[in-house]
Amino acid sequence: MKILAIETSCDETAVAVLEKDHIMANQVASQIAKHRPYGGVVPELASRQHTEWLPSLIQSTMTESNVTFSDLDLIAVTYGPGLEGALVVGTVAARTLSRLHQIPLMPINHIEAHMFAACFDGKRIEFPFISLIVSGGHTQLVKVNDVGDYELCGQTRDDAAGEAFDKVARALGLPYPGGPEIQKQAVNGDMTRFKFPIPLRHDPYAFSFSGLKTAVIQTIDKEEKPDDPQFIADVSACFQDAVVRTLLLKSRRACEDFGIDRLVVCGGVTANAEFRERLLQCDQTVILPEFSYCTDNAAMIGLMAWLSHENGVSADKAFTVSPQLSLVP
Ligand code: KG4
Ligand code: ZN
Repeated sequence: MKILAIETSCDETAVAVLEKDHIMANQVASQIAKHRPYGGVVPELASRQHTEWLPSLIQSTMTESNVTFSDLDLIAVTYGPGLEGALVVGTVAARTLSRLHQIPLMPINHIEAHMFAACFDGKRIEFPFISLIVSGGHTQLVKVNDVGDYELCGQTRDDAAGEAFDKVARALGLPYPGGPEIQKQAVNGDMTRFKFPIPLRHDPYAFSFSGLKTAVIQTIDKEEKPDDPQFIADVSACFQDAVVRTLLLKSRRACEDFGIDRLVVCGGVTANAEFRERLLQCDQTVILPEFSYCTDNAAMIGLMAWLSHENGVSADKAFTVSPQLSLVP
């Protein structure tokens, strides 16, 4: 079964072609440089870039995979959550190709796809498992009973972890996206210089990164030389440490409380090297997607379509874009 997958939910224009759960071609055109001057993603700009780049990206990904439209069995497209205009570009393109070439179309939940991004090439995770989703828009702990069967354990009450990385980076004068920049700065920082709190420490699985961000910004505001490279490095190291400690505490707690040994961690923040290293020291069996499938890509969208198909989900159901789409109804 050959699948064409399209992802345009935020600031990556992405297309992939898969044979079942095997990637034949996977191309990502990052818009980061376009948004960087504005310090974050500008929704209108994102839609315009998707419109400009998507047709040629589809063409080049199809060419790379050596697959023609008549070979395709399924088109998979992200329909939420994400930026509305950006989602519209991807879904309109997918629907047009589906109608034109008479290929079934399957709408895919972006967050669900992140959760299974470690399952290419026959790799499967035994159910149930605990999934920690840490992206720019989401921080959620989910108990995954099966494909399509999810229980929400807890989520952030305000900012997502990635969002906090981006906002703290901006407060430190670092460019967008903040995660990789904070990580770079933290390498030279003293992790013990500032004591930032673990937000909602005693709430079992809820997160709150807005309070942590405020504590960090207060520290920056109080500093006489906020441009000092060592100060920036130290704040970065202490903030990163506080986020990592928070994510580890709540994820381990969920695993222990539910008696589940498998922890799957996914979403853009999973690209963080310090976080990856400390996750691997957990008692639990930690499953991480490969580095390049942590951040947004279309291969995970195609994979999710294959897994859903295998699980009896049929294509061609009616849908519209769903910017606020959640995992658990
Ligand atoms: O999953 P993703 O690519 O897009 C969304 O669906 O949101 O996640 C993007 C987020 C951004 O907030 C970015 O700062 C963060 O992931 N991120 C990182 C790192 N790389 C990306 N955060 C911390 N450390 C990183 N190395
Ligand atoms: Zn994402």
